[in-house]
Amino acid sequence: MEERIYNFSAGPATLPLPVLQKAQEELLAYPGAGASVMEISHRSKAFAGILERAKADIKDLLQLPDTHRILFAPGGATMQFSMLAMNFLRGASADYIMTGSWASKAMNEAKKHGAPRAAWSGKDENYVRMPKNSELDLDPKAAYVHFTSNETIQGTEFFEEPEVGDVPLFCDASSDFMSRPIPIEKYALLYAGAQKNVGPSGMAVVIIREDLLERVPEGLPSLLDYKVMVENDSLYNTPSTFTIYIIGLVMRWLREDIGGLEKMAEINRAKAQLIYDVIDSSGGFYRGHAVPESRSLMNVTFRLPSEDIEKEFIAQAAKAGLDGLKGHRSVGGCRASIYNAMPVAGCEALRDFMIEFQRAKG
Ligand SMILES: Cc1ncc(COP(=O)(O)O)c(C=O)c1O
Repeated sequence: MEERIYNFSAGPATLPLPVLQKAQEELLAYPGAGASVMEISHRSKAFAGILERAKADIKDLLQLPDTHRILFAPGGATMQFSMLAMNFLRGASADYIMTGSWASKAMNEAKKHGAPRAAWSGKDENYVRMPKNSELDLDPKAAYVHFTSNETIQGTEFFEEPEVGDVPLFCDASSDFMSRPIPIEKYALLYAGAQKNVGPSGMAVVIIREDLLERVPEGLPSLLDYKVMVENDSLYNTPSTFTIYIIGLVMRWLREDIGGLEKMAEINRAKAQLIYDVIDSSGGFYRGHAVPESRSLMNVTFRLPSEDIEKEFIAQAAKAGLDGLKGHRSVGGCRASIYNAMPVAGCEALRDFMIEFQRAKG
């Protein structure tokens, strides 16, 4: 086998090695099925077991109350931007907390289905932080409040939910889902594109509070109708069964190998600390994008003294087996995505490389 690099890509992102090994082991014949997961019916007993187990593990990890349902939806998080607006905005107003590139994309899709308004915007500050509750201008009549718990591109993260009173709280948790425990009962709708913390790309995991389903209008396309999706247990059409299978394996890894979300959070904090410490002690050679209180534990964004030095940093790092460190094209600079599956050793290797690179340049 070719040696695996440390892959700091923002998504599709690195997956836990034991998950890939298990999938490899079971690829030709899933136990009890005598065929690959990709070759068996989504209505077969074997696949029913995979789906049930994946949901049970998600429920257990999040300590999800019976009021909420779990869906696997096609189209990733981007489809959710539209789907949630088609189901719950419908010409009305909703509050969007404008924290960066992904919040903007979510709001732009919502504009096609109603009148979303910005309850706060960090644009003038170049999206370096998340807002405090006291800064939010919330409309108590809003259909919902939408926030992005982790801005993947800017590298900022909320560590507490916005306080929104009785208005349903919706969240795009694509890039920090399952990275730490959250008070899930506060959320009416939470969704996450799978390709960062939970599996392959192309699907979203959706957690929806059941009472919201009463608000779903008639006549939506079936796959964009949360009620249809819930009633059919994510099996209205043929879903990406392989994706659901891998998500299931990742959830089992989180529960059994890691030991749950508390433990995962502890590891993630330690990993991020390794890199932020280098930034903070570099005397300004490395400059973090986010203000310290809003620093993401998943996407560490930083600049170097010049774009040429950044290019050199990224190229040399790649040669050293540390890949995917280029920042998003919209903001430039560097970004280390250190989701759940990035091992501590990967962050240590990056830390050592950063220190050595500065020494060579300084
Ligand atoms: C926070 C956030 N929201 C939404 C998306 C879009 O997800 P997808 O590509 O699955 O549609 C991404 C990344 O791709 C993201 O990081």
